[in-house]
Amino acid sequence: MNATTTKASAPAAAPQRQQQRGSYWITTFGCQMNKADSERMAGILEGMGFKPASDEHRADLVLYNTCTIRDNAEQKVYSYLGRQAQRKRANPHLTLVVAGCVAQQEGASLLRRVPELDLVMGPQHANRLDVLLTQVENGQQVVATGEHHILEDITTARRDSQVCAWVNVIYGCNERCTYCVVPSVRGAEQSRLPQAIRLEMEGLAARGFKEITLLGQNIDAYGRDLPGITPEGRRQHTLTDLLHQVHDVEGIERIRFATSHPRYFTERLIDACAELPKLCEHFHIPFQSGDDAVLKAMARGYTVERYRRILERIRHRMPDAAISADVIVAFPGETDVQFRRTLTLIEEIGFDQVNTAAYSPRPGTPAADWPDQLSEAVKVERLQELNALVERTARERSARYLGRIEQVLVEGSNPRDPSQRMGRTRTNRLTFFPASGPAKHPGGVGGRPSQPGDLVNVRIEQVRAFSLTGMPIS
Ligand code: SAH
Ligand code: SF4
Ligand code: F3S
Repeated sequence: MNATTTKASAPAAAPQRQQQRGSYWITTFGCQMNKADSERMAGILEGMGFKPASDEHRADLVLYNTCTIRDNAEQKVYSYLGRQAQRKRANPHLTLVVAGCVAQQEGASLLRRVPELDLVMGPQHANRLDVLLTQVENGQQVVATGEHHILEDITTARRDSQVCAWVNVIYGCNERCTYCVVPSVRGAEQSRLPQAIRLEMEGLAARGFKEITLLGQNIDAYGRDLPGITPEGRRQHTLTDLLHQVHDVEGIERIRFATSHPRYFTERLIDACAELPKLCEHFHIPFQSGDDAVLKAMARGYTVERYRRILERIRHRMPDAAISADVIVAFPGETDVQFRRTLTLIEEIGFDQVNTAAYSPRPGTPAADWPDQLSEAVKVERLQELNALVERTARERSARYLGRIEQVLVEGSNPRDPSQRMGRTRTNRLTFFPASGPAKHPGGVGGRPSQPGDLVNVRIEQVRAFSLTGMPIS
């Protein structure tokens, strides 16, 4: 997973007594939950009077929001921390914070490993950053990793983009996939109330955001911890109901959600996505393995056949839908034949994008203790073969866009070529195009160069495995 930096984009609501403090820097590792948490923590820091720093190595407060999904993600954090610990020895005023999943996993033992740390805080404490920092300012070294009921968002989740925002709908995960550390670091499922989610979306719309991605580690579990049964005898709060409740927020043009779990993905949900116009035709549904015995050992709770049926249904209702997934290779005991079944499934489905990883044993997970671990060489070899196939299928899927007109939501400029705009299709393909179109149709949007937040129709002229280039049309 890549590390990303979070610059706060707009100041959070100003508190009544704002103290002048120094500058802050946040580096985020891991998944979208961490990115969403980082944005809220940036909002809290700004509310406390911190200003964004322009350089990680000059900031007065450095916060690493960490990931422990695989060993390499965790090790990366230690190398970043080593450099900051050294800096702190020369400059004791530096405040060093480790947040996120490594913090939760290691807790107080992180302090023994890196005594320079001021604050170690698990993901459930992200919204309490101000309280915890006050304790630090009072001279304490703080560890906050206890089970915590997540407070309603006090600042709004923001993204470096001014156009697309994330909104958490369910925290934590109650599944027990045998390879996965997430339930132990993110805790039990906690769904937010639909009214709170809608309110947050309305607030984002009022600030000009156009696209919302609803987030959960297992978003299909949304609502199962909330009370309420309908007169027909089913749960009152499901993801499908939530989509119906929030899709008409004025100003929001597109809605996405992630991550879906094949065990709980329902036909009702597919139907809602087909019927509600703002729901985008992109589904991220990890399948992890194309072999039933491996899926069983992973405790995933579905078969390859069930996964196929879900995709058939999606494509029946939305023939052009993009499908992405996550896959693990070299799970303990995976034979070559079983690995080939994963390749077959990818070829057969034709995924638009697949996130791939070699199995990495994680502390406290059942599979880490199994005797049939595979060698590094097998992991590397399988991953390479898989990645080549993923790229080929993505390229084949991209080919269908050639010559088509796609609606692109402009997110900003292409960092490699500022004369180009960058955005995504409804199916989530990254698309580049000139800010101003040909003289006849300058910009394609009322004659002016397109701006972030515009929906632009783009004729696709070049296709690559994971991105497209085109020309705006009026
Ligand atoms: N909740 C999501 C994904 C959570 S973690 C789901 O159920 O699919 C993101 C991805 O990391 C997983 O989909 C899986 O492919 C990968 N992953 C998780 N644990 C891993 C491990 N121990 N080794 C390698 N990859 C892992
Ligand atoms: Fe991990 Fe499984 Fe939960 Fe996903 S559903 S976060 S893979 S335990
Ligand atoms: Fe990593 Fe934690 Fe997300 S372990 S993938 S940051 S939930």
